[in-house]
Amino acid sequence: VDEGTYRILRALGDGNARAATTLCSEAGESPSVLRALRADHPEWFEELEPGRVRSTTVGLAALAREMVARTPRVEPGSDEEKALCDRLREAGRRRGRVKRELDQVWATPETAVRRARRLIETGAAQRGLCFLGDDDMTSLAVHGLGVERSVTVIDMDADLLALYEAEAEIGGWEHRGVHHDLRRPLPKKLRGRFGCVFTDPPYALEGFALFVSRAVELLRRDGWLWVCSGFGRRAPERGLQKQRVLCDAGLVVDEVVPGENRYEGALSIGSESALIICRMTPEARPLVRGSVDGDLYSRRTPSHE
Ligand SMILES: C[S@@+](CC[C@H](N)C(=O)[O-])C[C@H]1O[C@@H](n2cnc3c(N)ncnc32)[C@H](O)[C@@H]1O
Repeated sequence: VDEGTYRILRALGDGNARAATTLCSEAGESPSVLRALRADHPEWFEELEPGRVRSTTVGLAALAREMVARTPRVEPGSDEEKALCDRLREAGRRRGRVKRELDQVWATPETAVRRARRLIETGAAQRGLCFLGDDDMTSLAVHGLGVERSVTVIDMDADLLALYEAEAEIGGWEHRGVHHDLRRPLPKKLRGRFGCVFTDPPYALEGFALFVSRAVELLRRDGWLWVCSGFGRRAPERGLQKQRVLCDAGLVVDEVVPGENRYEGALSIGSESALIICRMTPEARPLVRGSVDGDLYSRRTPSHE
């Protein structure tokens, strides 16, 4: 469910009735969110006295389902979590060499698990999740923390997708790899299908704008984009240029998590980058359409397949 819905259901989680205004204030949501939710799901609410709302058993069951879905199956800091990181490290070795020609810089397994935990706890992994490029194995970490529903990865690295397919088979996970060069238009059947797109895009501006544009096309109108972004302390203008891309694409920033991503390498950005969590707005639009050519990455341009 979306965040507004979750917060309203959670505020009613004690089973007690309260005035609609109290409910909105406790949930941190506006009355229009509550009105829309009551219109969509009348079966979740009842009014024993006029103006005082409580959750029905159907509403409480919806809340319970969402709370379970938002609880990773592995405790933070536990031996199981360490074992998951070790498993990712081992799988990571089978990725072969870092493909610099695809701008790959690997994040650490701990980063993949931290990202995955956040995706699950915020409900993003339940809303239809797509990774635009995933050399960091974050999609595997999402499954490793217990997500059963389908996760999609779009990447032009065929070796990576083959490795994920093999891992998914062993784990019994519903993992869908799509081999696609993002310089080419997205397959129509994928557009507007996802509730959350996660990407650690190229940090060169052209590549960043391309990945953000493709993400906007993949998202539903109420979707979220989670995008990693790093720049050196002495080059803040690079961060500004990326923020401008996000604004121009009609995305609003909800949250910035500094230092969320740690890398093996990427010293020019201090081996770390921030995670920016944005939402679609009615103004959202791709800045790049159709096919593109030319430089995308800081180092060099990939050859066409
Ligand atoms: C752009 S790389 C960068 C990630 C890295 N962690 C970093 O911080 O710079 C992320 C993923 O995008 C994929 N990728 C790069 N160019 C692509 C393209 N044109 N189409 C599809 N995937 C691409 C790479 O294979 C990789 O898995």
